[in-house]
Amino acid sequence: MNIDWANLSFSYLDTDYNVRCYYRDGKWGELEVSSSNQINIHMAATSLHYGQEAFEGLKAYRGKDDKIRIFRAADNAKRMITSSQGIMMAEVPEELFVKAVEKAVALNKRFVPPYESGAALYIRPLLIGSGPKVGVQPAEEYLFMVFVTPVGPYFKEGFKLTNVAVMREYDRAAPHGTGNIKVGGNYAASLKAGMIAKDKGYSAVLYLDSREKKFIDECGPANFFGIKDNTYITPESKSILPSITNKSLIQLAQDMGMKTERRPIPFDEVKTFEEVGQCGTAAVISPVGRIDDVDNDESFSFTKDGEPGPVSKKLYHKLRAIQYGDEPDPYGWVT
Ligand code: COI
Repeated sequence: MNIDWANLSFSYLDTDYNVRCYYRDGKWGELEVSSSNQINIHMAATSLHYGQEAFEGLKAYRGKDDKIRIFRAADNAKRMITSSQGIMMAEVPEELFVKAVEKAVALNKRFVPPYESGAALYIRPLLIGSGPKVGVQPAEEYLFMVFVTPVGPYFKEGFKLTNVAVMREYDRAAPHGTGNIKVGGNYAASLKAGMIAKDKGYSAVLYLDSREKKFIDECGPANFFGIKDNTYITPESKSILPSITNKSLIQLAQDMGMKTERRPIPFDEVKTFEEVGQCGTAAVISPVGRIDDVDNDESFSFTKDGEPGPVSKKLYHKLRAIQYGDEPDPYGWVT
């Protein structure tokens, strides 16, 4: 195996095994182990044409003590159940989800990057409608899979400032749609705006609410947060994904003596923030240096010296220390 661990990007690399489980005749079967990266499904599977698909993202970390720690798997299991309810899929029970994740990691231990590399093993559970339908209806059969792949930072910059763009002509999700669950369609809906933004040098699109374009919503594939007056502020919205990283940062901020607020954030308020960032499993914390409102030719800067702000730095290092086992985990987040 010849992997340049320290220079891994966020991309797919084959590993040894993945695990699979089929839902047929109203029940889940046994977990199966496969060494193939291919699946065989019916061409009329609902996932292929009606987007009946949900996924999760979590990571396993190798510590200095060589132990492998998985972060908050039970929370991902619960979120996948909510996603399944949102698009009428069979639910993967929490125990089955966690068992599959642990099995996929254990079978691919050699792909968990070494401690010093700062990389991690990304775990991708996915649930797809595999049974055939032509009418717009939920499938009767489902396939749940977990594959893993070693990854570096989601944004090539890592824990460095990136810029994001507000482009009002694009929406990611509607308030009563599927923006709050982790289904593939949300990500398909963000591809066009995301690629336009990337071509212009931005790391992500900062979406405003699709109804009024007044409030901050999701930041590309991650949640948004802002810091001011010793307060961690993150949007309350019906169309954003409840990020497990964001939830963890809220807890850490509180335990660092900060105030926290989850509330609608008017876009007009960004100019008052001292620090701004994106957060998620893949992004961890990606601090934002500048928000460009491309529709109005206005820019808002969040750095004086080209460096991430002190609160973002502190939160990032605290979270990473717990994930890698450098500090004790008083919350019971790691397994
Ligand atoms: C994650 O943070 O795990 C995500 O799902 C974001 C992206 C890679 C889709």
